[in-house]
Amino acid sequence: MSVVVRAGSLTPPQFSEQKGTTPLVCLTAYTTPMARLVDSHCDMVLVGDSVGMVLHGLPSTLGVDLEMIIMHGRAVRRGLERALMVVDMPFGTYEEGPQQAFCNAARIMRETGCAAIKLEGGKTMAETIAFLTARGIPVVAHIGLTPQAVHAIGGYGVQGRGEDGDSVRNDAASVAEAGAFAVVLEKVPEPLARRITKDISIPTIGIGASPACDGQILVTEDALGMFAEFRPKFVKAFAELGTAAADAIASYAQEVREGRFPAAEHVYGDRAQPVHQGDAA
Ligand code: KIV
Repeated sequence: MSVVVRAGSLTPPQFSEQKGTTPLVCLTAYTTPMARLVDSHCDMVLVGDSVGMVLHGLPSTLGVDLEMIIMHGRAVRRGLERALMVVDMPFGTYEEGPQQAFCNAARIMRETGCAAIKLEGGKTMAETIAFLTARGIPVVAHIGLTPQAVHAIGGYGVQGRGEDGDSVRNDAASVAEAGAFAVVLEKVPEPLARRITKDISIPTIGIGASPACDGQILVTEDALGMFAEFRPKFVKAFAELGTAAADAIASYAQEVREGRFPAAEHVYGDRAQPVHQGDAA
């Protein structure tokens, strides 16, 4: 397996340079078709470990492993030309220490062709971030609500309210100092995210954070309204594809049961006729 550096794609330094200019647009993708859809609109495309919950029906991101994230990373890679591709490091693949993190991050980069990795954690991950960046692995940090720590935190609540804000600010300063080229701020109060964005030199990417962040990220399926029954406050559905898909599937089922599909235009005659491209008469 070889790493292909795409000539036209945004690099981590170019991404960082956009801090304080035009807001950075980031979305997730787990498959080639979704990567193709989002590529021309995005500065960064993240192969998030949210894939475990969104596509595999897992109860949390903890069940995602290297094989799963690499398989999705390779699929996404085939769909991207322009956006910076970042892949999440799964739970248990980097927390032991810098060496473990380096081996697994290098494997992810080698096997997916991504340009950077993302890992969760602030101050406690600073040493690892410094180790990786010193060895050619660009890192996006992820602080505030860190879903891989759901059990330790005790849920998916907002992080950094009141006096806890200092700890999130310290995390932001630590990961920037350690060499991360961007940091995701998840579910932190708006004024705190605004302040951190002002304080640190690297772009902040908000999810449930603040419009003042240097960029925004959403899980694409959330932005498309795939899950009408699960819509946290920070999600805006820019379409209602979940309802549209359910309606389409119901129509298909009804037409099959009533013998209305396939109709004459969907079946083949026994004589050769002019064919549509990619079709056979
Ligand atoms: O896994 C993921 O998709 C993420 C984003 C929501 C930031 O970490």
